[in-house]
Amino acid sequence: MNEKEIVLSGIRATGNLHLGNYYGALRNFVKMQDDYDCNYFIADLHALTTNPDPVELHENVKNILAEYLAAGVDPEKATIFVQSDVPEISEMYLLLNMHVGIGELLRTTSFKDKARKQLGISTDSDEDIEKQIVGNESNKRVNAGLLTYPTLMAVDILIQKARKVPVGKDQEQHLELTRRFARRFNSFYNVDLFPEPENFNFGQNAVKVPGLDGSGKMGKSEGNCIYLVDEEKVLRKKVMRAVTDEGPKTPGQPVSEPVNNLLTLMELTTAPEIVQSYRDAYADCSIRYGDMKKQLAEDILKVTTPIRERYQAIRADEAYIAKVVSLGAERARERASRTLQEVKKAMGIIKFY
Ligand code: TRP
Repeated sequence: MNEKEIVLSGIRATGNLHLGNYYGALRNFVKMQDDYDCNYFIADLHALTTNPDPVELHENVKNILAEYLAAGVDPEKATIFVQSDVPEISEMYLLLNMHVGIGELLRTTSFKDKARKQLGISTDSDEDIEKQIVGNESNKRVNAGLLTYPTLMAVDILIQKARKVPVGKDQEQHLELTRRFARRFNSFYNVDLFPEPENFNFGQNAVKVPGLDGSGKMGKSEGNCIYLVDEEKVLRKKVMRAVTDEGPKTPGQPVSEPVNNLLTLMELTTAPEIVQSYRDAYADCSIRYGDMKKQLAEDILKVTTPIRERYQAIRADEAYIAKVVSLGAERARERASRTLQEVKKAMGIIKFY
C-alpha cells in the first residue's frame, strides 16, 4: 500500500519543452518525486484539440518523454505515462460530460482565447464570440474537443483521485472547474468518490518565466522560447538577439519591461550578486547589454547542457523509452480502471450478464 499523497500533472504534446516548462513544471516534478506518489503524463489527447500533424504528434510524445527523463524524472519513483495509453480516461470523459454545462465550458477563458484566435475575432465581448462560433460555417470551425478540454483535464485528475496538481497560473481556472465537477458528481450520486484537487508547487509560488521578445511569458506559440534541447550556438544567438531597450538615460529610472524580463531570467539561472550588479549598472546608467546577455547565455547553458546531453542519449534509445511508458501505463491503468468502475456503478451503468 502506498500512503503517499497523490500528485498528478501533465504537459500537452505540442513541441519541445522550453525554460518556462522547466522552471514552471519539470523542476518541481523532480523535487516532488521522493515525497509524493507522483504521476506525470503526456497529454496527447489534449494535443488533438488543435489538430496536429499525426507524424509530429507521435514524435512530440517521444521527445517530451525523453525530456522528462533527461530533466531528472525517475521512472522508479514516479509513474510516467501517455494519456492515450489509459483508455479508461476516454471512457470516463464521455461519462463526466453528462454533468458538464455547455455554458460553463463556453465561459472558460482558455476556450474563449483559443476560439478567438482560430476565428480571427478581435472583440472581447463574450456574446460576439459565441455568435461567431455558432454562426461560423467556414472550415475554420472551433471543434467540440476544444470546448470540452476542461472535462478531459478534470478526468485526468479525478480518475487518479489526485489531490495535488502542480500547474502554472494559466491552469487555475481548469482546476477550479475540476473541483466543481468533483463536488457535483459526489453530491448528485450521493457518493464520496472524488477528493477536491488543489494547485501545488512544492512550497513555491508559481514562477512566471518571461520570453525573449520583450513582453509576456515564454510560450510555444509566441516564438520567444529557449528550448531545453537548443544547441549551444542556437541558444547563444537567441539570447544575444533578445529585445532590450535603448539603455537607461537617467540614473535611477525604472527598469523597462524587456530588460526586466532578462533580469528575471537571470534570477532563475545566475548567482544573486551578479544579477544585483546588473541592476546596479542599470541604475547608474553603466549597463552593457552585450555583457549581460553573454552572462545570461552562459548561465542558461549550465542548466540546459547536461539536460540536452542526457536527452540525446535517451531519445536514441527507443527501447528504453518504450519500457518506461509501458510500465507507466500499467500502473496508471490500475487506479484508473478502479475509479472508472466506481463511476459507472454510481451512474447505473452496470453489467448484469
Ligand atoms: N492543460 C494542461 C496545460 O495545458 C495540461 C494538462 C492536461 C494537465 N491534463 C492535465 C495538467 C491534468 C495537470 C493535470 O498545461
